[in-house]
Amino acid sequence: MKKRIKIYPSLLSADFRNLSDQVARCVVGGADGLHLDVMDGHFVPNISFGSLVVEAVRKLTALPLTAHLMIESPREFLEAFARAGADLITIHAEVCPSLPSIAAQIKKLGKRAGVAINPETSLEGVIPHLSHFDLVLLMTVHPGFGGQGFIADVLPKIERAAQLKSEQNLDFLIEVDGGIDANTIGRVARAGAEVLVAGTAVFGTKDIPGAISLLRQKAEKVFYDINP
Ligand code: DX5
Ligand code: ZN
Repeated sequence: MKKRIKIYPSLLSADFRNLSDQVARCVVGGADGLHLDVMDGHFVPNISFGSLVVEAVRKLTALPLTAHLMIESPREFLEAFARAGADLITIHAEVCPSLPSIAAQIKKLGKRAGVAINPETSLEGVIPHLSHFDLVLLMTVHPGFGGQGFIADVLPKIERAAQLKSEQNLDFLIEVDGGIDANTIGRVARAGAEVLVAGTAVFGTKDIPGAISLLRQKAEKVFYDINP
C-alpha cells in the first residue's frame, strides 16, 4: 500500500489578522493538520503565542493540531496545551532530561507525544526512547523563525530515523520542519520524512490551497518513484 505524505502548514507565517480565513484555506487545500509553533523567548530567541491561540484554532477546525513547544519548561505547560485542544504535543529533547517520563505525562493527558531535535542535536540520545513517541521531529532549521534556509546536513539524520523505524518495526512518524518548499520537499521525502511542515511556502503565497497541493504533489512524486 502506498503511504500518504502528510502536509502540515505552520501557522507561524499565517496572516493573524484573519486566522479563520487562513485556516479555512488550509482545509480547502487538503492540509492533513496544522502545526502551531509555541516560543518562549528562552529556548529560542523569539516569542510567538501560547495556548490561547491553540484554543482559538481548535474552535476553527476539526483538523489535527500539533503544538511544537519551543520552550524551556514544557512540563509545566503540557496540561494547558492539552486542554486547549492540541492532538499531539511535541517537546524538545534538548530540555527534557527524561524523555520516557515526559512522553508518559503527555499520554496521560490523552494526547499523542512528539520529540523534536535541533539540527545540531544528535539522534543518539533519542534512539533508546523512540518507542515512547508517536512522532520524531527533525528540525531542518535552527528553531525560532520562519523563512530560514533549509539545512541539508540533516538529511542523513532523517535517513537514519527511517532506517531505525523499519529495523525496529516502530510506528512513530518522521516529521521535518524548517525551509520546506517545492524545491526541498522532494529531498526530505526521499530521505524518509512523512509529515512535512511548511510555513512560508504555504502562507507566503497568494494561493494557499495551490501551495499545499504543489507541496504534496512534489513530495508524493518522489515517494512513489521510490516505492512504485
Ligand atoms: C521554526 C518553526 C517552524 C517554522 C517553519 O522555528 O518551528 O515551524 O514556522 O517556517 P518555514 O517553513 O518558513 O521555514
Ligand atoms: Zn515548528
